[in-house]
Amino acid sequence: MTGARILIAGSGYVGAPLAARLRNQGHAVWTLRRTPAPDDPHAIAGDLTRPETLSFPDTLTHVLFCAGLQQAAPAEYEALFVDGLRGLLDRLAKDGHSLDRFLLTSTTGLFNVTNGDWVDEDSPSRPVRATAQYYQQAEHQVLAGPFPSTVARLSGLYGPGRSRLLRSVADGTARRHPGTTRYVNHIHRDDAAAALAHLALLPNAQSLYVVTDDEPADRDTLLCWIADRLDRPHPPIAEEKMPLSRGGNKRCSNRRLRASGFACRYPTYREGYASLIETET
Ligand SMILES: NC(=O)c1ccc[n+]([C@@H]2O[C@H](COP(=O)([O-])OP(=O)(O)OC[C@H]3O[C@@H](n4cnc5c(N)ncnc54)[C@H](OP(=O)(O)O)[C@@H]3O)[C@@H](O)[C@H]2O)c1
Repeated sequence: MTGARILIAGSGYVGAPLAARLRNQGHAVWTLRRTPAPDDPHAIAGDLTRPETLSFPDTLTHVLFCAGLQQAAPAEYEALFVDGLRGLLDRLAKDGHSLDRFLLTSTTGLFNVTNGDWVDEDSPSRPVRATAQYYQQAEHQVLAGPFPSTVARLSGLYGPGRSRLLRSVADGTARRHPGTTRYVNHIHRDDAAAALAHLALLPNAQSLYVVTDDEPADRDTLLCWIADRLDRPHPPIAEEKMPLSRGGNKRCSNRRLRASGFACRYPTYREGYASLIETET
């Protein structure tokens, strides 16, 4: 498919490379955020929590909601992912856009699993944290909304400029917690952007996909692998017990995403971190 007219609402860490990828595929792409990138010719300044600030090109075919917040209060998540998103859906419908697809980026943080079990699109989502509950509301709104819609539940994004685990090994702050297998579910930024582009234009896409790489990694194994590649000693063992992280302890399956014809360029941390170590250290 070429020649789509695509709006990316919230073009940040994953939204910006997504825009570039779709433009390279020959689509017309507009990006919307509060502080538009100066080098983006089709950037629109707008605040999704203030509908009066929003303006859109005519006859859009796709809207990809990739807006997100860093370290924000639950009320800000509600303003963006509940009220802001509803305002966007209502406005697009009122303006007469008949979209082929509306895609929402959500999070695997909705899977409240702590025992290392596998989860996929058929697993129950029982979010406990307030912010995760607003993501769930966002998913419900989009799937009950006026357009053919798909939710992409992303696992942790890593990549250029976001390599916390790599830096923690390099600066000696990383700590291991042997005895407790803790899984890290993540996907390289560029694979996340590629997967979102794939799902947005996929004929008969399903309503929900888990977007993660092929191999949930045991955290300590990942830290030691990085240390070996950096020619550093394995991180010391922590004195205190490892608290359960925000994401719980689960293994996310990307079987449905792969069955839809998508393949990661960085299928595991070995490929992803090898490229990062080359460029970031
Ligand atoms: N990062 C992860 O590890 C991760 C994991 C799971 C799911 N996700 C989800 O994936 C999506 C993308 O994540 P990301 O890491 O690319 O996020 P990001 O880098 O924080 O980018 C979010 C973008 O949204 C824009 N934005 C925020 N509030 C806005 C508003 N009120 N109006 C218009 N634009 C707004 C921001 O631009 P301005 O500040 O200029 O407005 C920014 O460009 C988010 O929904 C996130 O929750 C991320």
